[in-house]
Amino acid sequence: KLIARRRVHELEQQALNGGGAERIATQHARGKLTARERISLLLDSGSFRETDMIKAHRGSDFGMDKKRFAGDGVVTGQGKVFGRTVFVCSQDFTVLGGSLSETHAEKICKVMDRAMLVGAPLICLNDSGGARIQEGIASLAGYAEVFQRNVLASGVIPQISVIMGPCAGGAVYSPALTDFTFMVRDSSYMFVTGPEVVRAVTNEDVTAEALGGAQTHSRVSGVCHGAFDNELEAMAGIRRLLSFLPQSNRHKAPVLRSLDPRERANLDCLDSVVPDDPNQPYDMRAIVERIIDDGELVEIQPEYARNIITGFARMEGRTVGIVANQPRELAGCLDIDSSVKAARFVRFCDCFEIPLVTLVDMPGFLPGTVQEYNGLIRHGAKLLFAYAEATVPKVTVITRKAYGGGYITMSSKHLRGDANYAWPSAEIAVMGAKGAAEIIARGKDKDQATREYETKFANPIMAAERGFVDGLLRPSDTRRVICEDLELLQGKQLKNPAKKHANMPL
Ligand code: COA
Repeated sequence: KLIARRRVHELEQQALNGGGAERIATQHARGKLTARERISLLLDSGSFRETDMIKAHRGSDFGMDKKRFAGDGVVTGQGKVFGRTVFVCSQDFTVLGGSLSETHAEKICKVMDRAMLVGAPLICLNDSGGARIQEGIASLAGYAEVFQRNVLASGVIPQISVIMGPCAGGAVYSPALTDFTFMVRDSSYMFVTGPEVVRAVTNEDVTAEALGGAQTHSRVSGVCHGAFDNELEAMAGIRRLLSFLPQSNRHKAPVLRSLDPRERANLDCLDSVVPDDPNQPYDMRAIVERIIDDGELVEIQPEYARNIITGFARMEGRTVGIVANQPRELAGCLDIDSSVKAARFVRFCDCFEIPLVTLVDMPGFLPGTVQEYNGLIRHGAKLLFAYAEATVPKVTVITRKAYGGGYITMSSKHLRGDANYAWPSAEIAVMGAKGAAEIIARGKDKDQATREYETKFANPIMAAERGFVDGLLRPSDTRRVICEDLELLQGKQLKNPAKKHANMPL
């Protein structure tokens, strides 16, 4: 018995030591923390309960019987974030490069199953050389088991991936299937095929950083939802994000006690924020920050498709999803990237019963061959679909332009918007006056037609007369009115027709 106890102690020590002092030093020298250090930053102090601490692989090919590590390169278990349970998988690059074996995958799958069973978020900290090469397709099967669970858990529990080292080949598809993927600048990268393969196949010369670093994926590809400067900030950022989210689709998002009054005094500035010149940009983010509690917006994909803002905020302590056109970028036009960005965000909020607050200033979908050839119709339809499908409370405020198909798409009354408002500066029309005059006044006085069109449509009156907006809103009243509506809409009940699932445009 004593021998067994000593052996257990040894194995536990081995698990705690990961790949050993030398490899841990290398990890630190790269600006990276160990799997356990990351967990201790992510979770409330002392709350971690580990699962399968000494589980080891069963392989023996290529000398693997002599490379058996307790824990097999991943630390898994559960703990608390601000007192609420989360499940964690943290890959340990110091052990066999964090590579994924059959048993490594079994450990991950076990906590995924538990997270689903009890209804709690799953956070995967990825730092791995990919499928364990010595195991052949057993490790591929392991990935498949993880992917299958990612898909089944989608819409049931929030799933967050943080890339904190290499993530290549098939490994990228677990993060891609989760709700949010974050990266750490200068120490993480993601790609399906690495620079060598790219060079061999396409003759392109590209570094790992340029191909799949945090900058590339947060700005260019949109694969990641945010990039952090270092691992400390990453873990703090994930804690902050989790504070807005419900535990699962069976729970409500947490409600914090808000000290920010519904009728705050400093909102008069909103009455003059929209410039008189309709072509002059202004910062929609500043408006959002004025309206929400304490100006605290956690943006999702802040650097990608900046013509639309998406993020979580609170109103009177309750979580809301904010979607807002940003007239500072591309005049706030909807293009492919912004449509897809917002559509995915809207769908996340709908899955987890988070009300949507939409602010609209958008002159329409972006014209041009690049957009059309790349499928603006198909991608724009995603956002239209997402808003139309969403059954959560939907409150919309048109601050300035709401033109054409974009007007309909942006959570309009026609797509079951619950409360739709327009500021006095709103222009709700099929298109801008100049463009309209070009078409309807062929051969006639275009200036006069433009003026006529402006008088008739460059205001919110016709929309209000039709009931397409429920009311005209003084900008400084916006926060109060949205808070009142969200309170009222807490009891909202709306169901879509029963079906296996919808066939949304992909
Ligand atoms: N399977 C098994 N072992 C792996 C591994 C994998 N997929 N990836 C890394 N390792 C091991 C390495 O053999 C090395 O072990 P050793 O020190 O005992 O020799 C250890 O992990 C550290 O890897 P190393 O290559 O020294 O680290 P690095 O930081 O220089 O490079 C990678 C990291 C990920 C770029 C590199 O390890 C790599 O290319 N791995 C293979 C990636 C791949 O093709 N995976 C399979 C497809 S999914």
